[in-house]
Amino acid sequence: MCGIIGVIGADDVLLTILEGLGRLEYRGYDSAGVVLSGHDGLWRCRAAEGTHSVSDLRGLAEDAPTRPGSGVGHTRWATHGEPTAANAHPHFDCTGRLAIVHNGIIENHVELSDRLVAAGHVLVSQTDSEVLCHLIESEMADGASLSDGMRRALGQVRGSFAVAAMHADEPDLVVASRRISPLIVGVGDGASFLASDIPALLGSTRELFALEDDQLAELRPGAVQVMTLDGAPARATALSIDWDVAASRQGGFDDFMTKEIHEQPTAVADTLLGRCRADGALVLDDASGLGAADLRAVERVCIVACGSSYHAALVGKYAIERWARLPTQVDIASEFRYRDPILDEGTLTIGVSQSGETVDTLQGLREARSLGSKILVVSNVVDSSMAREADGVLYTRAGPEIGVAATKTYLTQIVALEFLALVLAQARGSLSSTEIARLMDCMLGLPDHLDTVLERTKDVAAVAQALDEARDFFFLGRHVGHPVALEGALKLKEISYLRAEGYPAGELKHGPIALIEPGTVVVGIASRNDLWEKMCSSIQEVKSRGATIVLVGNDGDEQTAELADHMLWVPRTEPMLSPVVDAIPLQFLAYWLAKAHGHDVDRPRNLAKTVTVE
Ligand code: AGP
Repeated sequence: MCGIIGVIGADDVLLTILEGLGRLEYRGYDSAGVVLSGHDGLWRCRAAEGTHSVSDLRGLAEDAPTRPGSGVGHTRWATHGEPTAANAHPHFDCTGRLAIVHNGIIENHVELSDRLVAAGHVLVSQTDSEVLCHLIESEMADGASLSDGMRRALGQVRGSFAVAAMHADEPDLVVASRRISPLIVGVGDGASFLASDIPALLGSTRELFALEDDQLAELRPGAVQVMTLDGAPARATALSIDWDVAASRQGGFDDFMTKEIHEQPTAVADTLLGRCRADGALVLDDASGLGAADLRAVERVCIVACGSSYHAALVGKYAIERWARLPTQVDIASEFRYRDPILDEGTLTIGVSQSGETVDTLQGLREARSLGSKILVVSNVVDSSMAREADGVLYTRAGPEIGVAATKTYLTQIVALEFLALVLAQARGSLSSTEIARLMDCMLGLPDHLDTVLERTKDVAAVAQALDEARDFFFLGRHVGHPVALEGALKLKEISYLRAEGYPAGELKHGPIALIEPGTVVVGIASRNDLWEKMCSSIQEVKSRGATIVLVGNDGDEQTAELADHMLWVPRTEPMLSPVVDAIPLQFLAYWLAKAHGHDVDRPRNLAKTVTVE
């Protein structure tokens, strides 16, 4: 998704912007641009699709003004208009003296654009964002300042925005604001900064603040003033930063995805760290605003999430229902708030989101709150928008995830949700303390199992090599193996662009089996659980129709191996925890198939790391 960085007063404004944009590349983008304050107005350069846009900017920036006082950069993920240089940000007004960058969607852009064009404005791109630039220009026509022009313009806008603007007449000022789309500001050593995400600023300052919806910030060298859109003084929320710059670099691995897959044992261990006290009491984060009484009062659970987070949530449902005996529903966040959900004070709504910024999930949580539900967020980003709005937060402690395809954040979400299921079980007394202690021990043993599976990447590479002609994949699982299958299929689609569908194995006979023919690859999650025999029957059915069978099975399980053309071996664990271990060979399978097809695993086409538009 789009990324923004703004810098004012730093020693090397352009370098700081380019480095920051480089650290935002992981969000996914298709074009990039920079605007700088120069001696005779604003200087801009933009680069688009088919190239490595941020690196191209470095070349294009050779004729940039020397020692600019301020500047703003942007990586764009196209929503309105193709990914061309003309549609790339920053956008100019009619005079070329006002520039803006924008993330989000201006929903009433057609209506605003018609009005502006009728008033004589000339718009040169197909974007909704350019409209905002001309709207600010028109609001400044009576001599209003940049801040006032922005305030008046944003008052007329419907939709979401994180926006930063500069004007040639006020070179020592950058003005920024947000609604729904995230934006942070920072100060340090005579300079001020803004960005859409923390990693962009990690190398510049650690004194960071999150702007709230409808706040506006005026950035001057070494000073940031925050106010509401009505002009009243306001405070942004201070952020606690515990990531370092090194954690967001590649560290010797071929790509971020490999690095992040290998970080999973540590990430899982960190997620559980300190959460089980010596007396057996399980604790949510210290900062969690949900106490034991709140947890005891929960009558049912509703989880909202998207993509991989949704798959983790499905595993969470099995655990919460089995261990805490609470009815649990899981909703795809983009559908949730449009179906008039029935929630009340007895419902605990859980938002699962690695970024904590996904707009569908954020809006779903707001809907749930408006219906009286308590909100708990499972997020990897401290002080993310969702975390700030929640009653309680359970942080996954996976560290920054740069690869667009979720790996370590997904695994830690499962662990966090299963841990939460035990917390709820303890609060409600639905499991004995002995059983909780046993399950907790199994969880704490997961990192060792993960280490074992990580050593087998070359075995999976050999399986991928044998499948490199295949084009159609079905992933089948039962019970907690079903979400594992869904995630395996999603991972393969995302980075290898191969057709892959995930199904509950029992559903196959109700239609999808018509698609099975020689050459179809069926990947089955066949680690041991209560439904293993039924799973094997489904595998027999597709095998007898000519499918190539790849099975995830437990070490030494020859009965499973007899059914398979290829095995992906994993250590045996407590069945409810098996999704954590079973996910890894599927991550590797997607990885090696993507590599075999020559794809960039960290930056798959069309995808964005943080989806801040509906
Ligand atoms: C997973 O590999 C994805 N890239 C995507 O499905 C992701 O899980 C989804 O967009 C949700 O993101 P979130 O966890 O940041 O809310």
